[in-house]
Parts: sequence; structure tokens; C-alpha cells
Amino acid sequence: MNTVQFIPSELSFSIEKATYKWQTPSNIALVKYWGKRDPQIPKNASISFTLNNCHTITSIDFVKKNTSSEINFELFFDGQKKEAFKPKIAQFFDRIKSYCPYIFEYDMTINSENSFPHSSGIASSASGLSAIAMCLLNLEKELNPKLSTAFINQKASFLARLGSGSASRSIEGPLVVWGNHPEIEGSSDLFGVKFAHKVHSIFENYQDAILLVDKGEKQVSSTIGHNLMHKHPFAEQRFLQANENLSELSEVLKNGDIDKFINIVESEALTLHAMMLTSNPYFILMKPNTLEIINAIWSFREETGSKICFTLDAGANVHVLYPENEKEKVNKFIAESLSKYCQNGQYIFDAVGFGAKKL
Ligand code: PMV
Repeated sequence: MNTVQFIPSELSFSIEKATYKWQTPSNIALVKYWGKRDPQIPKNASISFTLNNCHTITSIDFVKKNTSSEINFELFFDGQKKEAFKPKIAQFFDRIKSYCPYIFEYDMTINSENSFPHSSGIASSASGLSAIAMCLLNLEKELNPKLSTAFINQKASFLARLGSGSASRSIEGPLVVWGNHPEIEGSSDLFGVKFAHKVHSIFENYQDAILLVDKGEKQVSSTIGHNLMHKHPFAEQRFLQANENLSELSEVLKNGDIDKFINIVESEALTLHAMMLTSNPYFILMKPNTLEIINAIWSFREETGSKICFTLDAGANVHVLYPENEKEKVNKFIAESLSKYCQNGQYIFDAVGFGAKKL
């Protein structure tokens, strides 16, 4: 795989001091990525909706150093120094250092905040790492003004992927594919690409209400989870299925067949959890209230003809997906019938978004 394109050749270290600030979103996968090989190469292609309201805002202050021997950074989260988060970011910098040699040249102070509550069970790695990647690319652009926006987005996604696979899908929007897929032109295992086709109007401004069922720390880290796919008895079949689901979903996104959309998306969510149920060691990441919500969504769909559906991440929270034209009806249903299953009644209304924003 050709990664040489991401190693900068012409950089002038003319900048002494600079600060860049970016807002980047979380995303929710419709076809899931679960299983990878080194270095962060997915076993199947995935596609996600980029979100809008759930995002990270990060600024990095760069100050030129006298010596360039090691990578040096400070990390603040919500204004507080966060030593606990440093190892993950240090590992990220270590993985990207050959693609971003300039990180040796500057002392970096990173200030980050999330729009969603910290331990809400909403993964912050996608938005967190994509925000750092955009700040780095902003510096790289200043050091080499010839870089195009297309290259910047591609390299930011490439870097973010090395931190957390799903972060590769948090640079652009509204739909991003990551992972090489024969029917998706330009798709790559190295970075996410925007879904290039005209999407049916029913999927425009699609709504995602995130029901916070369990706000605790993740029971299974995604590293452990992905590793469980190595000796998993159903792994190969699963990877094939995901790629087939992506082929079908890409047609559905174009032709607006919403019943098929519901079928693929819910099956993907349950299959992700089925992989955990059938791995060894095995895990149940759903909680009783996750199932209560799923059953309530199915009854509501049956009774009202609504096109509401759900998807899940590697946790107990439920993402409720529905078209914009059902917003009023479904938001009321969530408030009246689903919020009681959420921890402290908490949920977040979000919708599909368009990716990274410079602030
Ligand atoms: O990006 P990671 O390594 O945390 O993996 C996340 C995987 C899922 O969120 C469960 C699915 C996906 O495709 O986002």
C-alpha cells in the first residue's frame, strides 16, 4: 500500500509560533467495522453518517523548539491538565511521526473539549483524534502552502485512522466509506472517502437521537474487541457479509428504499453484538434497557408505520435513526416512551453533519 504520498518532502520550518483550532464530529457506522490487522487496516469496508452536534473542539498551540530530539506535548481537557489521556495521544504521535516530522520541531499544547458529556458512553476517540489530525494538517499546510484541500482531508483521515480506525470517517460528511470495496470508487483501507453518489432526499438531514442507556466506562476496549475477531469462528463470513451489506446499502442510499435501509442497519447493529456474544472471551454489551428500547422501537414501527430504526455502537447506548419528516412524531415518542430507559433520562438529539470545521 502506498503511504509514501503522506511523507512530506518540502517543508520550510519558517513558522515560529502558531495556533489552530478545529471542530470535528463523531460518526455512527451503518455498516460496522469490527476486526483489523496491523497497522489499523480494516478487515471489511464500513460506512457511516457523520454527526453534527456530537463533536470535539481542539486547539493546538505550536511553539518552535531549539532541539528536535523528542515529541513534546501537554494535554488539557475542559481546561484541566489530563495526564490520564496522554499515553493514548503519545502512542498516536508515535504512529504518525514519519508522516508528520514537524511534530518533533514544535512544543505542542493541546486543548480539547467535547460537546457531549465526557463519560456518556459516546466514543470520543473518533472526534478527538480527527480534531488533532486537522490541527496538524493546518500546520502542514502553512509549512507547505501548495497542499490541496483534497490532499489535506485525505491525509487527515489517514492520520486519524492510525489513532482510531473509525476516526478516519470523521473528517468529511454526510456519508463516509472507509475500507477498500470493489464497487466504491476511490475507497481505501488507508483513509475514508466521501460517499460520492447523489443520495436520495429521504436520507438528507437524517436524524440520530442518541439514548444514553449506560454512561459508564467501556466494558471492552475497542482494541480488545477487534482482537477477538482474530480467532473468531464466524469472522471470515462476517467480513464478507459486511462488504455485501455495503454494496446493498450503497444502492439503497441512492434509490431511497428505506425499508431495506432499516433491515441492513439493524442487522448490522445486531451482528456487531453477535460477534461479541460469540467470541471467547464473550461479552454482553447491551443492557436490559437496550432491549426495552429496541422492542419499543419495533412496536412503534409496527403500530404507526414509522420508518424509525436503531443502530448500536460497541456499548449499551442506542442510536435512533429516522427521516427528518418524522422528527416531530419521533422526538415526542422518544421523550414520552423511551427516555424512561435512559440513565437519568438523558438523550441527545443529533442529525447528519458535514465534517470538520476550522474555528
Ligand atoms: O475506531 P475503533 O477502533 O474504536 O472501532 C470502533 C468500531 C465500532 O464503533 C464498533 C464500529 C464502527 O465502525 O464505528
